[in-house]
Amino acid sequence: MDIKVERGRPEKYPCELLLLFSFESPEPLEGPIQNVDLKWKGFISTLMKQGDFKGELFETRLFYTQDALPAKRVLVTGLGKKGEFDLEKWRGAASKAGQYIRNSGIKQFAFPIKKLEGLLETELAESFVTGLLLGVYQFNEFKTLERDKIKEIGELVLLGEKDEDIKWIADGLRAGQIISEAVCMARDLVNGPSNEITPTALAEKAQQIAKEHNMEIQILEVSQTEAMGMGAFVAVAKGSQEPGKFIVLEYNKGKGLDTIALVGKGITFDSGGISIKPSENMDRMKDDMSGAAAVLATLQAASKLQFPFHLVGIMPATENLPSGKAYKPGDILKTLSGQTVEVISTDAEGRLILSDALTYSLRYQPKAIIDLATLTGACVIALGDFVIGLFGNDESLLKKIEEASAKTGEKVWRLPLWDEYFEYIKSDAADFRNVGTRAAGAIIGGIFLSKFVEKVPWVHLDIAGPASIEKERPYIPRGGTGVGVRLLIQLLRGWK
Ligand code: BES
Ligand code: MN
Ligand code: ZN
Repeated sequence: MDIKVERGRPEKYPCELLLLFSFESPEPLEGPIQNVDLKWKGFISTLMKQGDFKGELFETRLFYTQDALPAKRVLVTGLGKKGEFDLEKWRGAASKAGQYIRNSGIKQFAFPIKKLEGLLETELAESFVTGLLLGVYQFNEFKTLERDKIKEIGELVLLGEKDEDIKWIADGLRAGQIISEAVCMARDLVNGPSNEITPTALAEKAQQIAKEHNMEIQILEVSQTEAMGMGAFVAVAKGSQEPGKFIVLEYNKGKGLDTIALVGKGITFDSGGISIKPSENMDRMKDDMSGAAAVLATLQAASKLQFPFHLVGIMPATENLPSGKAYKPGDILKTLSGQTVEVISTDAEGRLILSDALTYSLRYQPKAIIDLATLTGACVIALGDFVIGLFGNDESLLKKIEEASAKTGEKVWRLPLWDEYFEYIKSDAADFRNVGTRAAGAIIGGIFLSKFVEKVPWVHLDIAGPASIEKERPYIPRGGTGVGVRLLIQLLRGWK
């Protein structure tokens, strides 16, 4: 969708469709919708007075203006009760309006955007654009039939009333576009099937981003990681014919800036390995690289938004498959940290590849390490598909994540890493087992990872639930969600 900013008045602006919003009655009409209403002989206020349109949250109604206005159509969308309004509802409303326009086959529309009391104007513009672009996302890459029936909006004009409005609208638009583009890239990678989105494909994508944004990149082959001593990553990778890749992407390298390491689980398909998973829903396990996708997308956005940090994105990428070369339950692996792990289940592979990735991140002396991983089914049981499991060893970093979460609407909930549960991953034969009990499975996964970050402030985000969803949400369609991308971007933006 092409989005531009123009100065203009909604009641005078010719377009295919004019988008207007209203709070729930009896809130009086104000701003652009009021101006349009006046010009339209009270059409909208009459409608509301009669109770035909109440302005309830996401209520949408399409009208034909029949030359009463230069706009051919008007779409009114409800924002709900004024006192309950926030940016999350705003993103949802933008999305719902966008989906309605798209599904109606309308190709062009204008939206008069205006400041709202109590909300930052650039955030208002950014959230509108973000909600809209995330809401109209569709994954059609592999559909070949009836492609002409795929509907897309071609153009949006954001209308500013005064000259001074143009700047904040344009600023919000730019940030919204960059952020949505990053999230949609992550969604594409997650929705892409594992026969296409292989570790090699992820590495190529990272290479492409590195090139476009002047970033440093290293792609370590499995043989190199073996020589370095990454016994855990190698063990998982060696069961597959698809070569594993250990991807390290760096933004702002060598500029003396504070370093933050972002580590993303990149299992492009998780069959469980020798401890094979039940076949039901196994197709979902193509999303097991959602952490890596989020890291890649965050680096792309960080570079476009010119964040003043040295960011190191570490993405261990491999399939987890059974074969004659696969690692087996009972195997003992030597990790890069030197610590040893007894494999109880080859299906607890995420913590293995992450253990080496976390240790590897330490060589950059990061101020903070944040890992994202579709780590445990237990986290899905605990928190469902709406909430990210949040773990960490540093109160101030945990707080930063929670603040970012409140802004972006990507919900997080803290779970503890208490030592009592460490008992469950002690091994008779090695330093740790890779599996504890089924009970507290998400916590035990987190405790395992904590053994590889030494004393560095670290946060672990278990995104197994929200990485892909069955039931759509206001601006998140079914499938891969790109969860974590907006959270990380917001975290970096707000970093003090
Ligand atoms: N990728 C899975 C976790 C997962 C499960 C993500 C469901 C999304 C939906 C992970 O590798 C895994 O298999 N974890 C095991 C760990 C267990 C063996 C300790 C699990 O959760 O069952
Ligand atoms: Mn697994
Ligand atoms: Zn997995």
